[in-house]
Amino acid sequence: GRVGVLYGGRSAEREVSLMSGQGVCEALRSAGVDAHLFDTGRYTLVDLINAGFDRVFIALHGRYGEDGTLQGALELMGLPYTGSGTLASSLAMDKIMTKLVWLQQGLPTPEYAVLRPDTDLAAVAATLGLPLIIKPPHEGSTLGVTKVGALDELREAYKLAARYDDDVLAEQFITGRELTVAVLGSGKSTRALPVIEIVAPDGNYDYEHKYISNDTQYICPAKLDDALSASILEIAEQAYMALGCDGWGRADFMLDEAGKPWLLEINTSPGMTSHSLVPMAARADGMSYTELCLEILSTASC
Ligand code: DAL
Ligand code: MG
Repeated sequence: GRVGVLYGGRSAEREVSLMSGQGVCEALRSAGVDAHLFDTGRYTLVDLINAGFDRVFIALHGRYGEDGTLQGALELMGLPYTGSGTLASSLAMDKIMTKLVWLQQGLPTPEYAVLRPDTDLAAVAATLGLPLIIKPPHEGSTLGVTKVGALDELREAYKLAARYDDDVLAEQFITGRELTVAVLGSGKSTRALPVIEIVAPDGNYDYEHKYISNDTQYICPAKLDDALSASILEIAEQAYMALGCDGWGRADFMLDEAGKPWLLEINTSPGMTSHSLVPMAARADGMSYTELCLEILSTASC
């Protein structure tokens, strides 16, 4: 039947999603799937109903695409979709709720505080220590994120993040290596793909390094000893299952200088551009980009 590739959308990550959707749609078509791009930023849900899709591949990032709202609408419409359901999507889109679930399960995630307009920032810095990472809890692609090394930078960093979200996350900065793990499947069939290490030239893997410049290095499989690598894959699977993720996702980590992995977040609709990380991990596991898209599509349900 007809497959809609939902892309674009209205979030701050629209540009990234335009690239993800184009990649996915081309790959599905090359495999003979009757796939069509559908921009949820330009068309409405009524248009989506009228488009006559039998199922949809969600290639949207951020709000109104990755955060459970669209998933809820698709449930109501009875239109099968790829990826996590409403609850896991909204939990994973909220970096604070994600931490609450992980901490409850004993999974390692950096210490944090929630900043509000009346929060005593100096007290937070004293408790958590510097540097701190200041993030809007509901954004992706490093938008609104600042690494704060000195107390006098904290107010500006808070204000920047508060442009995106009311509550702001202050997280202890973990010095070390940046790792990410793609995860496929659900429940007992959950499986993590080889670990990727991200080496940004100045240790700052931000929006620019993710999508614009070409100077970031990716190593997959990451050079880690076997036991550590296995334990990171295991933590990624547990983190994914703890949130109830389904279909596919990507868990982002920091590995500290003592060799302990820390979970930062899970993306339930990660980037699928030609440079993206989930396709890279799939390749290292012997799966082409097209095979990956087909596997994700095969999990569409509602
Ligand atoms: N939020 C971006 C798209 C990612 O996680 O890949
Ligand atoms: Mg993210």
